[in-house]
Amino acid sequence: GAFETILVSTAGRVGTIQLDRPKALNALNAQTMDEVVSAAQKFDADPNIGAIVLLGSERAFAAGADIKEMSQQDFATMYAADWFAGWDALTRLRTPIVASVRGFALGGGCELAMMADVLIASETATFGQPEITLGVIPGMGGSQRLTRAVGKAKAMDLILTGRRIDADEAERIGLVSRVVPDADADDTARSVAAEIAAKSKPVAQMAKEAVNAAFETTLHQGIQFERRVFHALFSTQDQTEGMDAFVSKRDPQWSHC
Ligand code: HXC
Repeated sequence: GAFETILVSTAGRVGTIQLDRPKALNALNAQTMDEVVSAAQKFDADPNIGAIVLLGSERAFAAGADIKEMSQQDFATMYAADWFAGWDALTRLRTPIVASVRGFALGGGCELAMMADVLIASETATFGQPEITLGVIPGMGGSQRLTRAVGKAKAMDLILTGRRIDADEAERIGLVSRVVPDADADDTARSVAAEIAAKSKPVAQMAKEAVNAAFETTLHQGIQFERRVFHALFSTQDQTEGMDAFVSKRDPQWSHC
């Protein structure tokens, strides 16, 4: 496709989306939202893609929603456009998304990172929800996803002060899963994605759905959901193959169905 604010590529079973507005530190405007969502939806529908990698640049994963684009808006326009609602489509995709965060992940940048399933941070990454310093609050899910990710104490601290945290603190509080040297971050995300993509796609999707159910249901309903999905997997070729391969001491050959 003819994208202007992102770069899209594929390598094996991994699809990559790289934010590409270097002059604006990858600030997320409406066009970027449309392009990221559209590229990701295409990967999600492709049976040959098993995982999606989301990258920024060395200086910034994304320095936020585009403040210049937002500064002139009023309530009526924001409400009529349901500003930011388009991002919800990204979180409805079933293909696992691995993000590499280098440099700034602030405001909408931090919120976009939190839409990914696995977060790899570079040692240079800084995270924050500085919206309060602009007279607004997080608008791309930050007040909800950050609170679910790290709990009330840290979420209130970050959202009420707008302070930034470094990669080590982000890992300590559970916002990211790994911290690696800057030069390795994108490659780590690519190899994590390749590892996921080498698994059965429907099984990986169901695993993602099951984990996400933890955020939407009671414990009892979530466990019920998990167990039913587990049972359902016994109707797939990949369950038969995976267990047969183990018993016969060979590598499984996934049919992805
Ligand atoms: C638009 C942005 C931007 C943003 C940076 N730029 N962040 N443009 N929207 N969010 C632009 C700058 O205007 C500048 O362009 C260029 O990128 C380089 O930025 P500098 O500020 O010159 O770089 P530096 O001094 O290194 O500072 C980096 C920074 C700072 C600390 C990340 O840019 C910054 O504080 N940015 C805003 C961070 C933020 O508040 N994000 C949250 C946004 S609100 P020019 O052309 O001027 O040189 C949000 C929530 C939305 O995301 C929900 C509420 C509605």
